[in-house]
Amino acid sequence: MDRFPSITDLEARACRRIPRFAWEYLASGTGAEHALERNLKALSEVTLQSQLLKGVFEPTTAVDLFGVSYAAPIGIAPIGLTGLIWPGADAALAATAVANQIPYVLSTVATAAPETAGPAARGMGWFQLYPPRDHDMRADMLKRAATAGLTTLVVTADVPAPSRRERQRKAQIRVPPVIGPRLVAQSIVRPAWSASVLKHGMPRFRGLEKYVDLATMRNTAGFVGANLGGTLSFDYLSQLRALWSGPLVVKGIVDPDDAQRCVDHGADAVQVSNHGGRQMDGSAGAITYLEPIVQRIGSQVPVLFDSGVRSGLDVARALALGASFVFCGRAFMFGLGALGDDGASHAYEVLVDGLRNVMSQTGCATVSELPGRLMAG
Ligand SMILES: Cc1cc2nc3c(=O)[nH]c(=O)nc-3n(C[C@H](O)[C@H](O)[C@H](O)COP(=O)(O)O)c2cc1C
Repeated sequence: MDRFPSITDLEARACRRIPRFAWEYLASGTGAEHALERNLKALSEVTLQSQLLKGVFEPTTAVDLFGVSYAAPIGIAPIGLTGLIWPGADAALAATAVANQIPYVLSTVATAAPETAGPAARGMGWFQLYPPRDHDMRADMLKRAATAGLTTLVVTADVPAPSRRERQRKAQIRVPPVIGPRLVAQSIVRPAWSASVLKHGMPRFRGLEKYVDLATMRNTAGFVGANLGGTLSFDYLSQLRALWSGPLVVKGIVDPDDAQRCVDHGADAVQVSNHGGRQMDGSAGAITYLEPIVQRIGSQVPVLFDSGVRSGLDVARALALGASFVFCGRAFMFGLGALGDDGASHAYEVLVDGLRNVMSQTGCATVSELPGRLMAG
């Protein structure tokens, strides 16, 4: 913990160990990356007020969500092309979730199939859906996820079309990677990553292979746009509700009216997110959208949050603004890139230790007391 006490320390080391093409995919936002910057800045401006003289107390971070007990309100957000960023990432993330009793959301475009990730996550696994156009594919994906023991469905709403992602275009990301001089040159200077590829094999979209010819999957954005994107509507959400009997979360909501309509169409929670600043560069810092949505629907369903969280203090900030649970994407991947398979647990330790510390500093024995410590204005 002393060498890498913050997510920023993990980020710096991960950048030195992940090949450039994969790093560009992980770290980038979209456009001029203003939304990405605003996510961090807006969070940093949320301030708390301590209540002191509380005597001895041990803060507890444990929470229940959808009838499941989690050790902390911190989860692993869905990440696509996981194995390209760090070979074997999916197995490592599932193991991290089990070891720490936190949720891990398997992406539709992860490099592990539900059949592998679900059992590995032992009740901690959720499934994220990019809504397929084809209804047979949709029904089959949901059935596979449920059969694999993935408890909760997260449908992503904020990819109505692929984003431009200029940095990613320049990095020419391909899955499976096309071995050419450029890739070899970028990988050879990253020996830990290359050794990990030898161990785990080339990353592939294992969850999708059943439906699509591998050759057409060379460009994820194109594949998602053509087959899995642009379909979501409130009618489609109602259909998902009818097909999925477990908890249903809609991810990527920033508008209170949308949030209410999601609830009206059967959502069990809404996840406020701007996709980590990767979809629409005109977005405000994601945290800015949280409070108005909590005010509108917070008494009806839990409101979840992600985008820009890099510390336990950031987790505390989102909880103070009314989130019931906070997810991190890049923070866990920075951990894997920096330290290998155990790195995601290290990232979790950084986050949960930071959260516990803020709770002690502000006088909160449970996370439900954090909203009372928010500075007004
Ligand atoms: C490399 C990368 C891949 C992602 N892939 C997906 C995905 O497949 N599905 C999805 O719903 N969100 C995806 N996201 C968005 C994350 O789930 C989450 O919203 C975002 O990472 C939160 O911001 P943060 O990285 O600042 O924590 C991805 C994000 C990153 C950084």
